[in-house]
Amino acid sequence: MLGTINPEILFLQQEDQIKAGLLDMKMILEITEETYKLLGEGKIQNPPKTHLGIPDPENWNSFFNTMPCHIAGSYNIAGVKWAAESKKNAGIPGIPYGIDISILSDPETVLPFCILDGTIITAMRTSAVAGVQAKYCAPSDTKTATLIGAGVIGETMVMSICEAIPTVKTIYICDLDLPKAEKIAAEYKDKYPGVEIIPTADSKAAAAKSELIMGETTARTPFIDKDWVKPHSAIVCVSNEATKDVALMADVKVVDYWKQMVTFKNKAIVKAFDAGELTRDQILETSDLVLGKPCRTSDDQFIYACSLGLGALDITVAYKLYQNAMKMGLGTKIKMWDKPLWE
Ligand SMILES: NC(=O)c1ccc[n+]([C@@H]2O[C@H](COP(=O)([O-])OP(=O)(O)OC[C@H]3O[C@@H](n4cnc5c(N)ncnc54)[C@H](O)[C@@H]3O)[C@@H](O)[C@H]2O)c1
Repeated sequence: MLGTINPEILFLQQEDQIKAGLLDMKMILEITEETYKLLGEGKIQNPPKTHLGIPDPENWNSFFNTMPCHIAGSYNIAGVKWAAESKKNAGIPGIPYGIDISILSDPETVLPFCILDGTIITAMRTSAVAGVQAKYCAPSDTKTATLIGAGVIGETMVMSICEAIPTVKTIYICDLDLPKAEKIAAEYKDKYPGVEIIPTADSKAAAAKSELIMGETTARTPFIDKDWVKPHSAIVCVSNEATKDVALMADVKVVDYWKQMVTFKNKAIVKAFDAGELTRDQILETSDLVLGKPCRTSDDQFIYACSLGLGALDITVAYKLYQNAMKMGLGTKIKMWDKPLWE
């Protein structure tokens, strides 16, 4: 418990977190808006994540990112996510492509009080950020959305778009591996009865029929090019789907968190910035959107948004699950020590 000298840690595995509300996308969307509001108000310290690629940062087969933060205000917690992805996992049944773990700590005593699997938290919060960006960036009458990538983030992206954009009535879920798209379409068929979910392998054709295009793939080379762009639309990517030209063509450009984004030199928007084709004042952040700074000013505009992932959001979501789990008596207690050998 915060503020007490107690070396006890609550371990929350995925199953505990699900009982504590992990799959409640409405709740995750609310925490996302609240967290970006706190970030914009300067109440969060979130240094850019450090990236450790194996065998090297650019041509990685796997990577680990360290994502520390402190959240002030009503939270007052510190935490870190140790985030990892592996190309090898994409071909191994039974193991996710990305695997994460988070630690929550008391900022005063620095004692850790909760350790959680962070894998599904990551998926939920990544899609929630994209959903919040889409809410502010998509045309007001958006009825059709194309979601490209039917992996783990594709799962949660369906939830996020259905919850964040209630005008959407048709979702194309696309994947090069069509059975994966078919599986998600079947799974969500009855969960969102007002929304028709159509699986396809042809993302470009689906995008041409959509006002909103979401990218959540593992593609290493951008494939959404300028001939996909049209007025009266938005493209929101969580990875490397869109080219630099797409970013440059946008009437409004949005990133989740510029201070961190600018350190990732291979991102389309950063390439444009580093080449002098874009200035900082032309880029909005997710915090600006939730704090009410004007974003879409006309339905005819084309808007591009992207994200890299904010460690502080993993921690605010994890903290909510911890609080719920404590009330519900969930999880496994472990101890740092019975008595510290030296103090
Ligand atoms: N921005 C963030 O905060 C954040 C956080 C976590 C993960 N991510 C990124 O999200 C992406 C998806 O992660 P995941 O865990 O869902 O991976 P996953 O392996 O579970 O799913 C990725 C899917 O993309 C499909 N795909 C690849 N290239 C494609 C293409 N050109 N067209 C259509 N489909 C294609 C694959 O077949 C696969 O089904 C990764 O690139 C990851 O780095 C971003």
